[in-house]
Amino acid sequence: MSDPKDRPTEDPLEMVNGACLDIDTDPEVLSLRPERLDEYIGQDEIVETLQIAIEAAANRKEPIDHVLLHGPPGLGKTTLATIIANEMSGDLTITSGPALEKGGDLIGILTHMDEGHVLFVDEIHRIPKTVEEFLYPAMEEFSVDFIFDKGVHARSHRYRLNRFTLVGATTRVGLLSAPLRDRFGIFRSLDFYGEADLVKIIRRSASLLKVQIDNPGAAELSKRSRGTPRIANRLLKRVRDYTQVRADGVITRETVAAALALEGVDEMGLTHLDRRYLKTILKYYKGGPAGIEAIAAVLAIDRGRIPPTINLENPDPDCDLDYVTEGFRQKEVGAALTNSFGFGGVNATLAFTRFSQ
Ligand code: ADE
Repeated sequence: MSDPKDRPTEDPLEMVNGACLDIDTDPEVLSLRPERLDEYIGQDEIVETLQIAIEAAANRKEPIDHVLLHGPPGLGKTTLATIIANEMSGDLTITSGPALEKGGDLIGILTHMDEGHVLFVDEIHRIPKTVEEFLYPAMEEFSVDFIFDKGVHARSHRYRLNRFTLVGATTRVGLLSAPLRDRFGIFRSLDFYGEADLVKIIRRSASLLKVQIDNPGAAELSKRSRGTPRIANRLLKRVRDYTQVRADGVITRETVAAALALEGVDEMGLTHLDRRYLKTILKYYKGGPAGIEAIAAVLAIDRGRIPPTINLENPDPDCDLDYVTEGFRQKEVGAALTNSFGFGGVNATLAFTRFSQ
């Protein structure tokens, strides 16, 4: 930890993490989101697809086909859902897969939607199977089947819905079941933004925030934003504060560099943890190859952070392991095990402990 860049002031991991944080729901940040397709910068093919679909549907006086958006967090899936609703002059309801715990949660939303309503379901891959089954007739025939009573007395009633558009968003499209995926008429993947588009987004956001930024400043900020508008806007707010207090109010390459050095974010948008990860590969593993699990175990011990167990949606109630399910847990880690299960019963466990001289 001798390199000053390796010394974090706050948690820089959060600054350059694409996932939505509390600070991203601040009204000032929300006001930076484009509201119309012609304000949207980048993702040109997706924008064109949506422009055509929206215009054609409007001519036919119909809602547009259901849309599935796939891609890493922070690239604009929620923004696009909002834009679709605005362009179709429809109301928007925002929910997420894990929030729809029971069929009734979804039915309650569906039965209160007007013609042209847009329902945005974030993390749609996490929708429970029982709820997903209500979505099929809703998406295909705009109806839901209520089941009354149980067993031999069970009766079903079909309820007609107003025609709506479902916009699903997922970071893990491979986890979506085929029947659900196939019911979307439009499926597009969002890609990381190039530097030129990020510069445009940063200049637009700076003008909305009423702060001046020169071209080299915008270019420098775009290089550190990991191809992600959400990160660019987050960093822009930090740089704005720095520039107002420590400089003359105009964001330049120098103020971007100075402000982000304080955040532990370097010229490529890497944090101290990213650099340590790369150094681990370089120094301990002599440039690799290095198992990702071994690196994760070393980092868990070094940072005192227990990473989450991924894909743990249905923990076994009989298993009393203390899982971490969301984010990470800060805790002193003395030792870490990695398990690899191979074919034919050839399994391996590696144990790592802190080395002290
Ligand atoms: N702000 C965040 N993402 C944006 C985008 N794609 N276009 C314009 N402004 C944005």
